[in-house]
Amino acid sequence: MNNLLRLGVNIDHVATIRNARGGIHPDPLEAALKAEKAGADGIVCHLREDRRHISDKDLNRLIKEIDLPLNLEMATTNEMLNIALRHKPPGVCLVPEKRQELTTEGGLDVISKVDEISKFVHTLSQANCFVSLFVDPNLRQIDASYSSGAPAIELHTGNYCDATTKHERDENLQQIVAATRHAIDLGLEVRAGHGLSFDTVEPIAAIEGITELNIGHFLIGEAIFSGLEIAIKRMRKLMDSARGIVSSKS
Ligand code: PXP
Repeated sequence: MNNLLRLGVNIDHVATIRNARGGIHPDPLEAALKAEKAGADGIVCHLREDRRHISDKDLNRLIKEIDLPLNLEMATTNEMLNIALRHKPPGVCLVPEKRQELTTEGGLDVISKVDEISKFVHTLSQANCFVSLFVDPNLRQIDASYSSGAPAIELHTGNYCDATTKHERDENLQQIVAATRHAIDLGLEVRAGHGLSFDTVEPIAAIEGITELNIGHFLIGEAIFSGLEIAIKRMRKLMDSARGIVSSKS
């Protein structure tokens, strides 16, 4: 088994806290630099249509100033496509977006939008952006993702994390395991994320073949209590131990 499991740190909610007062603190760029120091493998941000957290200026600064690969989450709109083509981030994750939602609720419906999504995948891939599609662990959505030409999917772990009983969580975990196997058999790279915390990360990190976990809200919340670097290091350690990697560093 390839034990490499990357950690992408999503810094959107640093901007959420900053925007609550409209100033410049806390700075998402500073958070990205600290995440790198703490062992993150990539930085993730979502430029939403309503700019409720990350702003265009944040994106400009992140693109210019971080060394880690940036994965830009974006909706399939022409506005976002133009922004992505201007910046050409190394990664783009296509996500569904609804104005009223508190967070990304559910994965993309690739089945019903496969032609439109294929065009985004094609155009972004031509600009050398590595495209992933954020989908629920549903085999038909994965088949459609494969048909779109995207090289990767990110499986939505929200239902698994939100499960309130062990039975429900196990069922959701099994769906993610089956979805991962199916996607890998098709030749897709498989990532996962949404809602992951210290309590929920290990069974997902242990799934053979998943290459990357993208985690944001919990880490930024936890940073209030322990500091961002300590929170990221602890998450990294849990991911490593789930993969059977014993780290000498704390
Ligand atoms: N992956 C994707 C595609 C997302 O949209 C989000 C939320 O922005 C995450 C991962 C991270 O989710 P969370 O903030 O709940 O860790």
